[in-house]
Amino acid sequence: MDKLKEKFGIISAPIAQQIKDLVKDHGSQIIGQYSIEQVYHGMKGMIGMVTETSKLDAEEGIRFRGYSIPELREKLPKAPGGSEPLPEGIFYLMLIGELPSEEDVREVSNNWARRSNVPKHVFDMLDKMPLSTHPMTQFSMAILALQTESVFAAAYRKGISKKQYWDPMYEDVMNLIARLPRVAAYIYRRIYKNNVHIEPDPKLDWAANFAHMLGFDEPDFFRLMRLYLTLHVDHEGGNVSAHATHLVGSALSDAYYALSAGMDGLAGPLHGLANQEVVRWILDLKKYYGGGIPSKEQIEEYIHRTLDEGKVVPGYGHAVLRKTDPRFVAQNEFAKKYMPDDELFKIVEILYQVVPEILKSTGKIKNPWPNVDAHSGVLLIHYGLVEYDFYTVLFGVSRAIGVLTSLLWDRALNTPIERPGSVTTEWMLSQIKKVQPAN
Ligand SMILES: CC(C)(COP(=O)(O)OP(=O)(O)OC[C@H]1O[C@@H](n2cnc3c(N)ncnc32)[C@H](O)[C@@H]1OP(=O)(O)O)[C@@H](O)C(=O)NCCC(=O)NCCS
Repeated sequence: MDKLKEKFGIISAPIAQQIKDLVKDHGSQIIGQYSIEQVYHGMKGMIGMVTETSKLDAEEGIRFRGYSIPELREKLPKAPGGSEPLPEGIFYLMLIGELPSEEDVREVSNNWARRSNVPKHVFDMLDKMPLSTHPMTQFSMAILALQTESVFAAAYRKGISKKQYWDPMYEDVMNLIARLPRVAAYIYRRIYKNNVHIEPDPKLDWAANFAHMLGFDEPDFFRLMRLYLTLHVDHEGGNVSAHATHLVGSALSDAYYALSAGMDGLAGPLHGLANQEVVRWILDLKKYYGGGIPSKEQIEEYIHRTLDEGKVVPGYGHAVLRKTDPRFVAQNEFAKKYMPDDELFKIVEILYQVVPEILKSTGKIKNPWPNVDAHSGVLLIHYGLVEYDFYTVLFGVSRAIGVLTSLLWDRALNTPIERPGSVTTEWMLSQIKKVQPAN
């Protein structure tokens, strides 16, 4: 058994018992109430699940096991000579609940490198798809094609005690995270680089190896990938990709089925696809005003046009956050340091000055501030990764780390099948009549 697996087995068992006791002793305690509006409006703010890996605060943003993004950029181990954290470190933190040492991170890196081989039938399947198939569709299909390798599905078929579910799930989670960069890079090079592929370099860390397989071997791009893949990992449990993964996994579907479902949710324009939409919107804006950097007035006019056409301004707003997303801030600091003169970055800066005021003036948008997607694309374009239809796959490779870590915890804690109640509007109206005062 590898050291990390052994450690997870040791730390998760007493937590599973603690939760059992909590539910047994205090299960009937009321922790909240909710309104009809919440039921109709996407269950926002209703506490409906437990996610151990991260917690989102509306004002402050995300914390991973208690650590904020600025803290993690400082405290998580970095590659030799590197300045940004390695995604292996945030995985370890979310899984084990404590900051990893340099050695812990190296071990995760080596562990993933050992598991990264992708079976040939996955590439064969991808090769049969029309090149015009959206990269996210190919990504989700490739994850499903990998399901042939599920250790959990095989163990369940053979017969396994509930107490042992976490063991084969650990194998699936580690194998899947290890294989995703290879799959994603294959999709990228198949669509955009004449199907010419690059072999992995097992000496590189997970993010740098991914960059290498995409075809970007510059240390600057490695640095960006390490930051990017760390920032997008997790955003507590209720967002669409995390919740979909958790929900599908609750039927004891294995990690491949569950992650594929999560990625299908990430592919929606109100969720992960917003990163490609932002770039498309900014490039259209630029073109509309004849190229270069449009003036503040022109940008304001363009935002009003977007709203008047009944569209959303991509990259702005959030279902939970009510302040600027700290993931936006981290990327903004990166851009200020490494690419301050970039034209698209300057447009992002102007947008940050003007969009919130305009969105506020509509009186209906709860959060006028930028989210993670408002910034990520311009960083990638700066370093030459210009094919923006691919951006959500990058997001997905990172998000897999968080949602799969939670899935593993689900199996360790024996989280039951999820099955919320649902009602009809007729039922809802009947309830309203019940509480209306009599005349
Ligand atoms: C993220 C998002 C889906 C959250 O949705 P939400 O929780 O329903 O947001 P709100 O409660 O603030 O929405 C209230 C209204 O404001 C609108 N709104 C919210 N954000 C908006 C934006 N960026 N541009 C224009 N309108 C917006 C909603 O569409 C909704 O309109 P409606 O009442 O006519 O249906 C939404 O802000 C959005 O569409 N943003 C743009 C896409 C994006 O960046 N997604 C990535 C999120 S990380």
